[in-house]
Amino acid sequence: MNSSPVRKPAYTKLAEIYDAVMDEVDYDLWADYIDALMLDHHPDPNTVMELACGTGSLALSLDELECYDIWGTDKSPDMIARAREKNRKRMCSVEFSVMDFLDIPQNRTYDVVFCVFDSINYLHEPRQITRFLNQCQKLLTSHGLLIFDFTTPSNSKEAINYLHNEEGVTDNNYRFFRTSTYDAEEQIHTNTFRIQQLTSDRSTVLDEFVEVHRQKIYSLQQMLDIIDKTAYNICAKYSDFEFEEADDESLRITMVLQ
Ligand SMILES: C[S@@+](CC[C@H](N)C(=O)[O-])C[C@H]1O[C@@H](n2cnc3c(N)ncnc32)[C@H](O)[C@@H]1O
Repeated sequence: MNSSPVRKPAYTKLAEIYDAVMDEVDYDLWADYIDALMLDHHPDPNTVMELACGTGSLALSLDELECYDIWGTDKSPDMIARAREKNRKRMCSVEFSVMDFLDIPQNRTYDVVFCVFDSINYLHEPRQITRFLNQCQKLLTSHGLLIFDFTTPSNSKEAINYLHNEEGVTDNNYRFFRTSTYDAEEQIHTNTFRIQQLTSDRSTVLDEFVEVHRQKIYSLQQMLDIIDKTAYNICAKYSDFEFEEADDESLRITMVLQ
């Protein structure tokens, strides 16, 4: 194979290997964290919508707690196809749909809407975050919560050390290479995935793809300034996967809004 790699939109080819790339992420633990946040801040959470659910790992772990009715949504049809496959295999009962979180149908309401793993960092303009927040607000029941996380400049400065030049081979015969760079002035974090499809004996490259993922990295203060212009009350802002108050040093900040 000597032609140049085919450029693909984010979360198309990556969907084939997303779970292998995220192998070290403990989604059961993450689901326990979201469960704890819901129980701490809502009197009786039952109906839940996950935005940007990806291949559904977190929604499925949450479903296995057998406490919630869950609807998982993501903009990428390829990610949702994987989520549906896993839902079937794990005999879970999550409903999965393709949906852009900037264009949410307003025909149902939920006790909790959540969106994690820095998915909101794909919104590059504060006005897009405002639109996201306003749309979510219309989805919430009277004590409803919006829970979302975002990664910070402190995280990006650290993450490039372990994400840059990462590579691996997956069980379904793909090889991937990731480069990771951070432009501190523009606050843009770029992850570039080069993905090679291999023959089953892995001796030959059949096809090669590139996906470029650009995320806008917000400081805590920048996010608070955006939220301040909406009707939400901030119930909590937590640092990483703890119950400690977030600050400028936090790597991942989880917001709980009402
Ligand atoms: C880092 S992945 C996180 C996926 C999942 N939450 C997880 O924990 O594995 C980011 C996800 O955001 C989704 N996404 C990006 N922009 C979106 C949008 N405008 N609407 C819905 N999903 C979006 C992508 O398709 C991708 O699945």
